[in-house]
Amino acid sequence: MVAATYRPDNTAAYRMSYDDPYRELEPPAQEIAIVQEALQLLHQVGVLPHTRYDEHKLQAFRRAVQEQFEVPWTAITPRMQRLLYAINAIHQPQNMIAAGVFCGFTFICNAGAAVGPGAVYTAQHLLGVEIRPAEAERAERNVRRLDPTGAARIVAADAVEVVAQFPHDIHLLYLDADGDQGRGKGIYLQILEAGYAKMPEGSLILAHNSANGGARLTPYLEYVRDPAHCRASVNVLLDIEGLEVSIK
Ligand SMILES: C[S@@+](CC[C@H](N)C(=O)[O-])C[C@H]1O[C@@H](n2cnc3c(N)ncnc32)[C@H](O)[C@@H]1O
Repeated sequence: MVAATYRPDNTAAYRMSYDDPYRELEPPAQEIAIVQEALQLLHQVGVLPHTRYDEHKLQAFRRAVQEQFEVPWTAITPRMQRLLYAINAIHQPQNMIAAGVFCGFTFICNAGAAVGPGAVYTAQHLLGVEIRPAEAERAERNVRRLDPTGAARIVAADAVEVVAQFPHDIHLLYLDADGDQGRGKGIYLQILEAGYAKMPEGSLILAHNSANGGARLTPYLEYVRDPAHCRASVNVLLDIEGLEVSIK
């Protein structure tokens, strides 16, 4: 089991405004270099087979989301958006589930590697799950503009149940639900436990808020950093939210 952390020097100063997600926060070359360092560490510890992704496709994906998505707010920084897109473009999951997608922005950061103008491969099932029906409807409207094919879609449901009932293997599970009924970020572990047996070896688990998820996230982080469950797990602290990237 390899547990590692990536933290660039300037993470604390890298701050976004949640209602202005497209504002440039640093020179593009710096954003690219920082994400590349994170990808290199993920490659070194065996989470990713390589670190290459298509910059033009990433830019096409970004433009389409900016033009077509209704986003009231998001905590996904440009660095995080790039990292999520790159991980999906490199790993190329046939089946991906994103849990707790709000307006769909986080979902498309993952699914945008397989649908729309940033697509670099063809997937089978790309499923976003959002428990609040009105948000799920907005996310579905957003996603339909970018992916008329229907390969990527949003359902209004509890992610624990959707993952438990999903009838296929899951090759990438993205966790971002903040839980209802007092479950908070503690729900990540419930969702992962519901899907763990369906995840073939080599599948990836991405958990947003690894930096600021609070004590509720601790049991989840202990689970994925336990060699009984994952081969490697890296805490990528390239912004103040963070992403734990784990490989089964
Ligand atoms: C904080 S938001 C994620 C926003 C995302 N980090 C961003 O910055 O764009 C978490 C979402 O998870 C949803 N959620 C909470 N519990 C859930 C569950 N059990 N299943 C699916 N979605 C859930 C909430 O309704 C909320 O929209």
